[in-house]
Amino acid sequence: MLTQIGAKPESDFSDPLGMLTDCHQRIRQFLSILITVCEEAAEKQLTPDQRIVLEKALWYFREAGPRHTADEEESLFPRLRAKDVPRVHRAFEKIARLEADHRQAEGDHDDVDIIGHRWLSDGSLSKEDLRQMKVLLTDLTRLYKRHLVMEEAEIFALADGVLSRNEKDLVGREMAARRGILRR
Ligand SMILES: [Fe+2]
Ligand SMILES: [Fe+2]
Repeated sequence: MLTQIGAKPESDFSDPLGMLTDCHQRIRQFLSILITVCEEAAEKQLTPDQRIVLEKALWYFREAGPRHTADEEESLFPRLRAKDVPRVHRAFEKIARLEADHRQAEGDHDDVDIIGHRWLSDGSLSKEDLRQMKVLLTDLTRLYKRHLVMEEAEIFALADGVLSRNEKDLVGREMAARRGILRR
């Protein structure tokens, strides 16, 4: 569903900044899947296909999403903050804003997960849950629209310019370890 013929091949751990950008595409895709299921199913019973994509999207944000946040907050941002370079200093405020966004998104995703699981077990959403789900997904869409572009255009671009090959390799190794993959 998410692999498109002719699409650019996914980056690997040797290109951690490329991998982080690929993760952003998945965040956008799974968020749009949640919005579509919400619009199409509304208060009706979930179809088997809707159930499958809903389960996948909830799984993504519960399991893979936090690893992406850790990649940034534990592997990338600390290496940037350690750089005593004026253009990095100027980005400190933005990095703090990105971390605040992560906390906001985590809270929203927790609520989406609770409502989403109730949806799966009941087969349909109550009026109130549907309303709340739409509010959460609208908030997340607005947050990610700004957040992902800021990371890609400013922070990853900055990291690409100031981190050494060795530092990027270390980020990639930590990302691999976070997913239980050993890299030599
Ligand atoms: Fe982020
Ligand atoms: Fe990100």
